[in-house]
Amino acid sequence: MPEWLKDAVFYEIYPQSFCDTNGDGIGDLQGIIRKLDYIKDLGCNALWINPCFDSPFMDAGYDVRDYKKVAPRYGTNEDLIQLFTEAHQKGIHVLLDLVPGHTSDTHPWFRESCKAEPNEYSGRYIWTSHVFEGIEGRPYIAGMADRNGCYMLNFFASQPALNYGWLNRTRPWMSSVDSPEALATRDAMLDIMRFWLDQGCDGFRVDMADSLVKNDDERKSATSRIWQEARRMLDEEYPEAVMVSEWSNPELAIAQAGFHMDFLLDHAGHGYNSLFRDYETEGEDHSYFKGNGDIQRFLGEYLYHYKKTKDKGYISLITGNHDTPRISRTLTERQLKLGYALILTMPGVPFIYYGDEIGMRYLDIPTKEGGYARTGSRTPMQWDNTKNMGFSEADAEQLYLPQDLSDDAPTVRKQARTPDSLYQVTRQLTALRHKYTDLQADGSFEVLHAESGKDPFVYRRGSLILAVNPSCETTRYTDELLRNRKVIYQIGEVSLQEDTLTAGPESFAVIG
Ligand code: NOJ
Repeated sequence: MPEWLKDAVFYEIYPQSFCDTNGDGIGDLQGIIRKLDYIKDLGCNALWINPCFDSPFMDAGYDVRDYKKVAPRYGTNEDLIQLFTEAHQKGIHVLLDLVPGHTSDTHPWFRESCKAEPNEYSGRYIWTSHVFEGIEGRPYIAGMADRNGCYMLNFFASQPALNYGWLNRTRPWMSSVDSPEALATRDAMLDIMRFWLDQGCDGFRVDMADSLVKNDDERKSATSRIWQEARRMLDEEYPEAVMVSEWSNPELAIAQAGFHMDFLLDHAGHGYNSLFRDYETEGEDHSYFKGNGDIQRFLGEYLYHYKKTKDKGYISLITGNHDTPRISRTLTERQLKLGYALILTMPGVPFIYYGDEIGMRYLDIPTKEGGYARTGSRTPMQWDNTKNMGFSEADAEQLYLPQDLSDDAPTVRKQARTPDSLYQVTRQLTALRHKYTDLQADGSFEVLHAESGKDPFVYRRGSLILAVNPSCETTRYTDELLRNRKVIYQIGEVSLQEDTLTAGPESFAVIG
């Protein structure tokens, strides 16, 4: 396990919307380079950059046309290499986004595979053997190519599925997982990984990591074998490089498939929702940080995965990402502070989504580049009160997406000047994490008190005791372990007397 992960705090950058240095209204790699000191100062020492490769942008770049070429709107391959170099000089690692499950339908591999004449790429994607034979239960396209067959989709209509084979093969056109064409796809992905690792990147966030082999078994064992091979390659050739999966099943992704980290996402029934956005009951939000929830709902899932993975890799909790409505949509600033306090003091490797550090809002705006409901979480970063909030010199109509024009729209500048702003609290929390090894990825974790409907939630990280109380009531916790200690960090009203902690409404405490 690379050492640098132990104290890593990631910052996810949606490159379109971070910082535009050439005045075209779209963020670019030079913009990220310009803001490296900001990122460092926030307490983040690692980046995940959403796909920045050549693409027709039907899905914001998750439809790759050339895996080895930076999209011209973001700059050049040289800019990306410069970003690696300058980030490394500041102690920041950089992950790129690897999209292994599909390409754009404009990718040259796909163009070749559409041809009636068999060629090197005929087996790179999943095709049936007849245009009138579809793929049962799966999205597919018929009649768009000279080739006599239908091709399978992995996500949108513009994203044909790459062929890694099928585990349970029920039709003759289904390749086996060790067929030459499936192996060729695997090699092509490893080749892309090596290409960027050789230029200085530190690894990958892997898109839809569980989607490779079709008709895989329930535990995704065939897909896992592919990632085990990728992990072996990293361990042997690039031992400092890491992979984090979009899988949201750490037990499988880490303990079985070999990922260094896996996100706990907002897929149905998953931990993120029970913490921040839990709408299962119509009209009511039962999430823990809304103050009406039950921490057990989160812990039930978290502890299962934590126990299965704690010696093998890291669970990644996120403040948000480019696929999910920003939680500032429903949570107050204080609730966000408490939520971030938990994320940044749990084991594993936390991720902050750009703009979440200032509580940027989810905007109700029309879709762009396949964003649909996700578009509102992808708006340009709000730096200051200059033109376009410091994001770009372009005319406002030219911006990649409109910005939050409300009078009280948060900006970095405003919040940097306000001592207890969300931004400042985020910085304090990352600083705390860097200061105490016990709070970092490997520090031990033990639940001391987690009762349904009875806050605070109290947990131990190494020698530290932490308590979070998102409810609107003053709550108490008594434990011999609290004697002769003191509060070393707090949000809201907190007091410690002898063996009793009094946690005021919406509070958080770190006790040393
Ligand atoms: C997950 C990505 O996070 C999302 O933005 C994308 O649309 C799909 N995968 C398809 O690649």
